[in-house]
Order: sequence, then C-alpha cells, then structure tokens
Amino acid sequence: MTEMQTMTEAPKRVFIRTYGCQMNVYDSDRMADALAPHGYEPTQELAEADLVLLNTCHIREKASEKVFSELGRLKELQGEKRAAGGDLMIGVAGCVAQAEGEEIARRAPVVDMVFGPQAYHRLPDMLARAQNQRHMHPSLRRAVIDTDFPEEDKFAHLPPARKDVTVARGLTAFLTVQEGCDKFCSFCVVPYTRGAEVSRPVAQVLDEARRLVDAGVKEITLLGQNVNAYHGVDAAGRDVGLGELAFLLAEIAGLERLRYTTSHPRDMDDGLIAAHRDLPLLMPYLHLPVQSGSDRILKAMNRKHTAAEYLALIERIKSARPDMALSGDFIVGFPGETDADFEDTLRIIRDTGYASAYSFKYSTRPGTPGATLDDQVPEPVKTERLARLQELVNQQTTAFHASCVGRTLPVLIERVGRMPGQVGGRSPYLQAVHLEGAVELIGGIHEVEIIGTSTNSLVGRLRSAAAA
Ligand code: SAH
Ligand code: SF4
Ligand code: F3S
Repeated sequence: MTEMQTMTEAPKRVFIRTYGCQMNVYDSDRMADALAPHGYEPTQELAEADLVLLNTCHIREKASEKVFSELGRLKELQGEKRAAGGDLMIGVAGCVAQAEGEEIARRAPVVDMVFGPQAYHRLPDMLARAQNQRHMHPSLRRAVIDTDFPEEDKFAHLPPARKDVTVARGLTAFLTVQEGCDKFCSFCVVPYTRGAEVSRPVAQVLDEARRLVDAGVKEITLLGQNVNAYHGVDAAGRDVGLGELAFLLAEIAGLERLRYTTSHPRDMDDGLIAAHRDLPLLMPYLHLPVQSGSDRILKAMNRKHTAAEYLALIERIKSARPDMALSGDFIVGFPGETDADFEDTLRIIRDTGYASAYSFKYSTRPGTPGATLDDQVPEPVKTERLARLQELVNQQTTAFHASCVGRTLPVLIERVGRMPGQVGGRSPYLQAVHLEGAVELIGGIHEVEIIGTSTNSLVGRLRSAAAA
C-alpha cells in the first residue's frame, strides 16, 4: 500500500454516492473501508468532501446519463472549492466506469479516477497515483483508469470494516457472496460490467458473517448478481451451493435472519428449496425475477426457461415453505413484444401473485444482443404497458399487505419511528412495520399483531417482549 497520508494529518472526507443495486451499496461500504486506514472518514455532506466517489449503475440508459449530469455539478463544486483555496478529487466507480472507462475520462476531464468493481482493493493506490497527477502540468494530466479484471481475489485484499463502523451501519447487513454473471440475457449489461461468475470461498463468507454478527448484526442478506448460482469451495475443496451455505450460516449464534438476492429461476435447486423448508432463519421472501410471461419473449431474452417451468418452480418452493412471499422483476417492451405477449406477462403475474415487483421499460444497452434486434417497441406502447402492469402489481401488493392484518408476525425492530413514541422494523416478508413502542425494543425480534396498513407499510401492536 502507498503512504499517501500519515495518520497525524487532519482526516480527509470522502463522499460516496451510490446508484444501482444492493451490490453497489455493499461495494460503497467496502470502498469506505479501504480508504479508512488512509485517513479518509466518510461524510454525508458533499460540501465538506475532499474526495467524491460516484458508484455507478449501467443497467438502463437513464442510470448512466445521471452520472454525466452529476459530474457536471461536481465540476462546479470543484471550481468553487479551488477558488476558496481547497480542492476536490473525483472518482467514478461501478458499472458505468467498467463499461465506459476511457469514454468517461474523455467526456468528463474533471474526473481523476475511473475504476471498475473488480478494482476496489486497489483504490488507495489509485488515489495516490491520481494525487501525483495533480503535480503535473494540466496538459499532461490523465485520469487514472483501472477497469481490469484482476487475477487476485479482491475480497482477500479488502480490509474488513472496523467494529465501530459495522455497529454504526446497523442491525441488517449485506454480504456479497457471488459476483458476475454467465447467463447473458440478451437485454442485460451485467455480464459485461461485472464479468464471469465468481463465488467467494465458504470460509471467507463465514468469517465475514461472524464479524458482522459479532458487531450486533441480526439479519444478513447474501448478495450476488446471481446469488443462487453460488458455488463456493470449502476447506476440504468441496463445492458448496447456496442451500448448504445457508445451513452453515444458520449455525452462527446470534444470527437471527437470513435473506439472499437476486436469484435466477434456473439456479433454484433442491438444496436451496430444502433450506427454505428446514431453516426458520431463512426468511420466507424470495426475489425471483421472471421478466416476461411469454415463452416467445423469454426465448428471445435468453432466459432459458418457459413460463410454465417458472410456475412449476413456484409450486415446488411453496410446497416447501407455504407462506413464501414472492417478488419479481419485469421488463415491458422487449423488442418484438406483441399485445398477446404482454397479456401473457399479466397472466403470469396473476398466476404467481406477487408481494411486490419492480418493472421497467426495456432500455437498449449498447453491446448487448437485444440492441441489434429489429422490431423495437415504440415508447408510448411501453409507457402504456408499464402503467397497466404496475397497476396490477400495486393491487397485489395492497392485497398482500391487507392479508397480513390480524396476523401476528415477528418483527425485527430496527429504528425509531417517524412519530414520537414509535419504532419501526421489518416483517419476515420485508414489509416495513410501525408500532408504538420504546426505543429499548430496537435490536430485538418481537411478536407484533398487525392491526392495519398504510401506504407501503403495516401498522402493528406489540404483543410480547419475547425476543426470538
Ligand atoms: N440477475 C438478476 C437481475 C439483475 S438486473 C436476474 O437475472 O434476475 C435487475 C433488473 O433490471 C432485471 O431483473 C431486469 O428486470 C432489469 N433490467 C436489466 N436490463 C435491463 C434493460 N436493458 N432494460 C430494462 N430493464 C432491465
Ligand atoms: Fe443480467 Fe440475466 Fe445475468 Fe440477471 S441473469 S444479471 S438479467 S444477464
Ligand atoms: Fe447496476 Fe451494475 Fe448493479 S449495472 S444493477 S450497479 S450490477
């Protein structure tokens, strides 16, 4: 590592803005952890930052355009800081950086560093190199670009968070166990921005989970672009799937809840379904995107399964865990999608019954097979289909919330509520729950009777103080 800052100097401030999925949220914390030994403290105040990192998302067109407009604003801020005798370093990380490294440096010369998700352990070193550039004549300055997929294990080189930092991050934590994707759905950039599927070794995952629980974390969400494709090796060199990993994590005393996201229907194997049947800590809420209900479109999307296979899979999962609540992702307006195809999508939503779902208009991503397909769907058609789909999903979400009224659910109380005297937490089905209660309840799992619903959340009443 490079000595760029001695600990005797005043701390510098890093502001990290996160776009995109939970994996980026996890990665932003890892970047903060990597910078901490070099004297950088995180800040939520852009104005006091010495370093700004944009952790970007490339999944849809608007996601990357946001980054360029943000860079425009940062250029102004940098100008103001320089006029006042200060300075601001700017780094672009994440999936836009990975996909468009050189292009970002060309289009936005204000950027000091551009680096992809596989390079975060090299961040302190990049920062030192970028600082050296500051001593060069402006005409010779170049952004430091690192978008290689390294041979070494990034995770083995990233320092763990300080315990006080993990404590401050709260009762729930993300833990990336798998990165990258080999599926190559024809609409999706992820295989290009995150690279091939790689799973972290079992011991590394268990170590990180133990450290989190030791710092007070009660609920861990395992992350991966295709988390259920996890295949880590254990100490004996054996291949361990996500189901078996869940059984190993369940042995950690103090870990109360386990979740994972995002899963691909093709990787939902018997071991994982068995874990849902046998492990009470594995929460009955599954994000299992299907994207479309039309077999023709599923084929064109390269999803490699049919609508009927998806529905049969849901049946199998529900017979193992009858109260399983489902969530999904949908794309409307994939090239060639007809009214009949779209009706098939509405039908699979009705047949499945979702507790929640995310839906998007198809966005053409350069470099993906979908981008070259004829028969792109006109924008107004996409808009109309998206509205109809979201109306159906909203009805289902409302019905699901309403079906919880009268039930008593274990709620992990995480925070004080919006109103004085209230606390808030999450049900097993990831619903926000608000109730009257003392702050002492925070950190425990409590039996809460659901007495009503409000927009996007449940209202509850404490039944017992017994923690699970
Ligand atoms: N690995 C996950 C999805 C990761 S991307 C899976 O296979 O399900 C998150 C979601 O973004 C996808 O499920 C999809 O619904 C949406 N998405 C991805 N590419 C898109 C595109 N080009 N246009 C619109 N939505 C897209
Ligand atoms: Fe993208 Fe498909 Fe991989 Fe999901 S499975 S990340 S949608 S290519
Ligand atoms: Fe976006 Fe990259 Fe996640 S493209 S959705 S940040 S994997």
